[in-house]
Amino acid sequence: MIEVFLFGCFMTCVYAEGGADVVLSCSLVEEGVGMGGMGGGALFTRTPATLVLRDIAVTSDQLLETLTPFVPPTVPDPDAILFEAKASSPEIPNGDLFLHADCDEKEVTCEISRYFLHGSQDSTEPAYFFVSLSVEGDGLSTALVLQTLAVEKDRSGGTTLMQTKLGLPLSQSGSMLTEVAFLVFSHAKSVSAPLRGEVLLSCGFRQQEMPPAQEVGIEWRLQHRGKGRKVLEMKTRLNDTEESSEVHAEREGSSVDAALVGDGNTSMILTKLKVSDEGTYICTVSVGLFHAQQVIQLHVTQPPRVSLSEEKLFFKPEVPQTLSCHCSNYYPLDAQMEWFSLSPTDTEPTVLPEQGSLSSHRQHGDGTFSLSSHLTVPSSVSPGNTITCRVSHSALATPLSVSLVVEKPEPDSYWMVLGFLVITVLFFYQVMK
Ligand SMILES: *[C@@H]1O[C@H](CO)[C@@H](O)[C@H](O)[C@H]1NC(C)=O
Repeated sequence: MIEVFLFGCFMTCVYAEGGADVVLSCSLVEEGVGMGGMGGGALFTRTPATLVLRDIAVTSDQLLETLTPFVPPTVPDPDAILFEAKASSPEIPNGDLFLHADCDEKEVTCEISRYFLHGSQDSTEPAYFFVSLSVEGDGLSTALVLQTLAVEKDRSGGTTLMQTKLGLPLSQSGSMLTEVAFLVFSHAKSVSAPLRGEVLLSCGFRQQEMPPAQEVGIEWRLQHRGKGRKVLEMKTRLNDTEESSEVHAEREGSSVDAALVGDGNTSMILTKLKVSDEGTYICTVSVGLFHAQQVIQLHVTQPPRVSLSEEKLFFKPEVPQTLSCHCSNYYPLDAQMEWFSLSPTDTEPTVLPEQGSLSSHRQHGDGTFSLSSHLTVPSSVSPGNTITCRVSHSALATPLSVSLVVEKPEPDSYWMVLGFLVITVLFFYQVMK
C-alpha cells in the first residue's frame, strides 16, 4: 500500500537547450519497515529527494533569461536521491506551469514512492516510481509513473556506483535516469457547478507509446461521507479500426466522450447536477500494466433567493413591528444575514445593534436550504430610514441586498373622522349664527 501525504517542497527553474528543466524538492515516501508499530496504521518514512524534469516544453515568450542550466553534482553522491526524468515524451500537460509556480512563489507538492506493476513483484530492472505532483492554487495535478533506464557501463572498467538506499545504479552524474512511462493528470482539482447545471471533471492520461489496439480502462468513482459508489466505467480499445467501447454509466447523465479517449482525454461530463452529486471524484485510468488516479472535488452551488416579508412599513413607534427576511433555496448551508439601517442624512448604512432572530434551517426535497431572519424594528428607526437585509453566500459573487424605506405614519382614520366632525360642526355653527 502506498499512501500519499502532503508535504511542502520548493524548487528552482533552470534552462537547458531549448526546453526548460525544473528541479523539484521532493520527498521519498516509504512504508516503514521493522518500526514495531503497535498494530496501528502503517508508518511511513520520508527522505528528502530531488527530481529534475528535463525539457519541459515552453513557448518562446516564457523563456526567462534568468534561467540557468541544471548542473549535476561534480562528485556523485551515492547517498543523495536524485531522479532525472525527461518531460518531453510524453509531454507533461501544462508542464510549464511548474516553471511559473516557482516564479510566482506557489508551492509545489512532490512525492515519490515505489510503484509495483500489476502482478509483478520481482525487483529486477527496470524499477518503477510513482510521483505525485501538484501546484498550489492552479489546480494542476499530475501522477507520473517513472521507469528507470539502463545505465551505460563505465568504459574505464570501474564499477557502477549504486544508490545506497534504493540499490539502483547511478549515472555518471550521480542520478537515477528515468523516463515517464505513463501519467494521469487533471487541470482542475476542485470545481464548483450550479445545481441542475452541467460540469466537466477534468482527467486525462499520456503514455510513452501507444501500441496498436490497446485497451484503456476508465473508472470514475464518487466518494462522499465515507460512502463510495461507481459513477461510470468504460473500456475502450485505442487505435482500433472498429469502434469498440463498453460503457456502464451508473449515474444517469454521466458521460465520457469515447472519441476523445484516443487523445488521452478521459474527462467526465455530469448533467442535471443534484446536491447528491457533490463529493470527491476519483478518476482511475489503466493502460496495459499501468494505472494511476486523480482526485477531483465537486461542489454544487445554488445562490439564495432573498425577499422581505413586507412591501411597505409605516412608522409606528408605540407598536413593535416585525420585518422578516427570507433567504430561500440555497446550497451549501452557510449563509450570513445582516440587517442595516440608513438614515437620509447618512451616506453609509449602519449595522443595526439588534439583529433579527434566525429561524432554523429548513431543507427542501432537492437538498437546498431556506432560512429566515425576523427583525423587531427598533424605535430608533424613523420615517425616511432605509432598512436593508444583506445576505452573503458562497454562491454569490457579491452579497445580495433587499431594502425598504420606512414611511410616515398613516394618517389615522379615527382622528380624521373626528377632525372632519369638528370642522363640520364649526362650519354649521358659523352658518347658523
Ligand atoms: C477534454 O475535452 C474537453 C472537451 O473538449 C475539454 O474541455 C477538456 O479541457 C479536455 N480535458 C483534458 C484533460 O484534456
